[in-house]
Amino acid sequence: MSEKVYVFDTTLRDGEQSPGCSMNLEEKLKMARQLERLNVDVIEAGFPIASEGDFEAVQAIAAEMKKTTVAALARANGKDIERAGEAVKEAKNPRIHTFIATSDIHLEYKLRKSRSEVLKQSVEAVRMARNLCKEVEFSAEDATRSDIDYLAELFEAAIEEGATIINIPDTVGYAIPSEYGPFLQNLIAKISNRDQAVFSCHCHDDLGLAVANSLVGIGSGCRQVECTVNGIGERAGNASLEEIVMALHTKREVLPYHTDIVTEEIYKSSRLLSNLTGAFVQSNKAIVGKNAFAHEAGIHQDGVLKNALTYEIMTPQTVGLPRSTLVMGKHSGRHALQKKYQELGYDLNKEDLERAYFFFTKLADRKKEIYDEDLITIIQDGIKTIPDTYKLKYVHAAGGNQEMACAVVKLQQGEEVFVESAYGDGPVDSACRAIDRITGMRGHLLDYRVSSVTRGKDALGEVFVHVSVAERSYTGKAASVDIIDASARAYLNAVNKAVYEKKKEQEREPPEAASA
Ligand code: KIV
Ligand code: ZN
Repeated sequence: MSEKVYVFDTTLRDGEQSPGCSMNLEEKLKMARQLERLNVDVIEAGFPIASEGDFEAVQAIAAEMKKTTVAALARANGKDIERAGEAVKEAKNPRIHTFIATSDIHLEYKLRKSRSEVLKQSVEAVRMARNLCKEVEFSAEDATRSDIDYLAELFEAAIEEGATIINIPDTVGYAIPSEYGPFLQNLIAKISNRDQAVFSCHCHDDLGLAVANSLVGIGSGCRQVECTVNGIGERAGNASLEEIVMALHTKREVLPYHTDIVTEEIYKSSRLLSNLTGAFVQSNKAIVGKNAFAHEAGIHQDGVLKNALTYEIMTPQTVGLPRSTLVMGKHSGRHALQKKYQELGYDLNKEDLERAYFFFTKLADRKKEIYDEDLITIIQDGIKTIPDTYKLKYVHAAGGNQEMACAVVKLQQGEEVFVESAYGDGPVDSACRAIDRITGMRGHLLDYRVSSVTRGKDALGEVFVHVSVAERSYTGKAASVDIIDASARAYLNAVNKAVYEKKKEQEREPPEAASA
């Protein structure tokens, strides 16, 4: 009988912390719902002391998760821990995750504290957290560069104080499997009360070894693994959830451990995260990359046709990957579309089906062949995480290498329709400027990416943008067979987020005190 490994997902904390991966509250909630469908054991929802937005997101996720444990991160001090406790208090299964650095280099230069001071602070932090929450995880930041005897002493004290999960991070991705394994085994053996805690590994990918180290961690006694969808995270990222899970799943004979992850939800989780953040995975990324199950070479194709096992160690269906088959044409009805979505793992309610059908018919008018990926793009393009204050009704842009580019844009806000035109550096820039004129926001494009969803000249183009508005960055996304339409809608998507956030902040601000 294989042993269970608990999956601790930190996509919304360590992952979200990385540049270009930030999400607003609604986006985090959307992702958290998908993580619960994926059946992770723990969602680390954020770092509540970091900002009001982080606090609110953790609180909202804690209130909504039905069965998944919701963890909040806190440094080892009273203020952080109180805030974390407050944020998760409505969760069915709350956890406070408190941490402090333990390596000499961090103690000397960052904390300017002695080992005994850090030990004392750790014990106090765990005690404080235990008073607020029945489940406490304690992490020693930069553990792999810390003195092993000191770590053992610290962990023993933390367990004594009531921490039941002990995390041993490779914070800077410095470990290699052949040293991480013995290090963990020796460390755990030194902790006298080790039977009262679950040990956890948390690996970063600076040397590209995060997944390998995590698997070694599991083999060396860790029964919790910390990871992120698509491996997003600080610098080179965290260990990728899908790679760890599928390695355990595929190599059961040599790795006698299992997770409770619903593997068929992996692809959807990966796509959703990319869609929410604009952080794409590279085509050759294991498990979820575009090419992960594509066979290009003739010999491979021939083998796979005869028996998929010749070149496939797992089936695309196991991770919920659509088979990229030609599906339907413009005469297909709602019922067929609903069935197709069911096959792809999406149970659409009436409203979502109507919206998907509307976009499907529009797409079918312009595109001969519609693939599974097109349908997924339609449904994810329609993801509404915020209300669309402005809707794009019309865009026309012209450019070229001779004339100055210009665009005309028509936006609707409630019942009102606004029209503006602008010149710019190319048709996309012109359309963005015209949108700015209407919305009164001053957006600045930080990043602009176009990719095709499927093959062919009439392929759907997906546009992702990062836009800075009033010194904050927002992501936007849209898909269309027309690149100008997709660009204008992606830009407007980001601007709508800025408009929405501004409105929410105004609502949060206390009304001005009446003057006496
Ligand atoms: O990498 C790390 O050490 C962390 C801790 C906060 C657990 O993310
Ligand atoms: Zn980390």
